[in-house]
Amino acid sequence: MGLKLSGKGQQSHRMVIFVALLVLMTLLILYGSNNSNDTTYAPFHVATSHLKTTDLKKWAGKDGYVPVYGNKNMSLRCHNCALVTSSSHVLGSQAGEEIDHTECVIRMNDAPTLGYETDVGNRTSLRVVAHSSVFRVVRRPNEFLRHTDSNPMIIFWGPPNKIGKDAKGTLYRLIQRVSMTYSNVSCFSVTPGKMRRFDSLFHRETGRDRQKSHSWLSTGWFTMVIAIEICDNIKVYGMVPPSHCGKKPVTKKMPYHYYKPRGPDECVTYIQNESGRRGNHHRFITEKQVFSRWAKQYNITFTHPNW
Ligand SMILES: *[C@@H]1O[C@H](CO)[C@@H](O)[C@H](O)[C@H]1NC(C)=O
Ligand SMILES: *[C@@H]1O[C@H](CO)[C@@H](O)[C@H](O)[C@H]1NC(C)=O
Ligand SMILES: *[C@@H]1O[C@H](CO)[C@@H](O)[C@H](O)[C@H]1NC(C)=O
Ligand SMILES: *[C@@H]1O[C@H](CO)[C@@H](O)[C@H](O)[C@H]1NC(C)=O
Ligand SMILES: *[C@@H]1O[C@H](CO)[C@@H](O)[C@H](O)[C@H]1NC(C)=O
Repeated sequence: MGLKLSGKGQQSHRMVIFVALLVLMTLLILYGSNNSNDTTYAPFHVATSHLKTTDLKKWAGKDGYVPVYGNKNMSLRCHNCALVTSSSHVLGSQAGEEIDHTECVIRMNDAPTLGYETDVGNRTSLRVVAHSSVFRVVRRPNEFLRHTDSNPMIIFWGPPNKIGKDAKGTLYRLIQRVSMTYSNVSCFSVTPGKMRRFDSLFHRETGRDRQKSHSWLSTGWFTMVIAIEICDNIKVYGMVPPSHCGKKPVTKKMPYHYYKPRGPDECVTYIQNESGRRGNHHRFITEKQVFSRWAKQYNITFTHPNW
């Protein structure tokens, strides 16, 4: 009898737990779908009046970039720069010749020139490469490490435990091997101290702590800051203004990368990253709000589209 009762008790106990779990899961699913359906992107609403502006020209400093091999200096200085983004907005621009006639041409990650010369040109003075893109760059040395300007540069950025000198990991050894082999290309990595300064710059310019707000800086952020450090005038090709993806009716689908026509849509990628609160996300739209302020402070112009 006692056994039977406790059996029943156990059963109802299990039932309670089961129902509780069911409710919990339903809530989680509702909460999750609510979040992902929430396409109204919420940039960080930067209250610009409270922010301290940083003079990036003074902020620069010479010690932020260390050669991966040898004792080269990151001494690139240019009067005019073309910053070519990886966005599909460059397609059809016919800007290739204009880009090639610019003193310094800056590109990002593994954005190719081969096959896209008419729109993006064929010269590269500097490439800014994320730790996560190293393998893609190294996999096609003919494209990224030979046949470029007489002394092209690559700046690798990433967490110190991945690309720092003390990392001694696979990635750092790979970068080292590449810069020994292709001695015409000067390879640098961003120092741990400078990585922290990129974080504090984001904090100062957006009012948000990068780590606490679960944000990742984008290669675009690094590239823009580095371009301001080394160039007097910058012309940016293919970057949309911060308000672009919020427009209604929804703008026509444009691939995120010009070299991946079937890849993800640019605005979807921007909006999803901007509104992501759990896990780390890029803040492409917030970053562009900062760029638009910098454009007034430094001589930055945007083309394809113009803004
Ligand atoms: C790099 O800069 C340091 C100090 O500014 C200088 O002593 C050194 O000669 C430079 N190296 C090269 C290769 O230009
Ligand atoms: C690419 O490079 C060649 C010379 O190497 C040049 O003749 C050509 O005009 C360049 N630009 C474009 C857009 O193809
Ligand atoms: C390095 O540059 C020299 C001259 O600038 C060139 O002849 C040589 O082919 C280049 N080497 C590589 C590996 O690109
Ligand atoms: C700003 O840069 C553009 C090219 O990027 C150049 O044509 C213009 O002369 C520059 N303006 C100033 C004031 O330097
Ligand atoms: C955020 O952006 C990256 C590209 O840097 C993309 O791979 C990723 O899918 C995006 N995340 C979301 C949630 O869209």
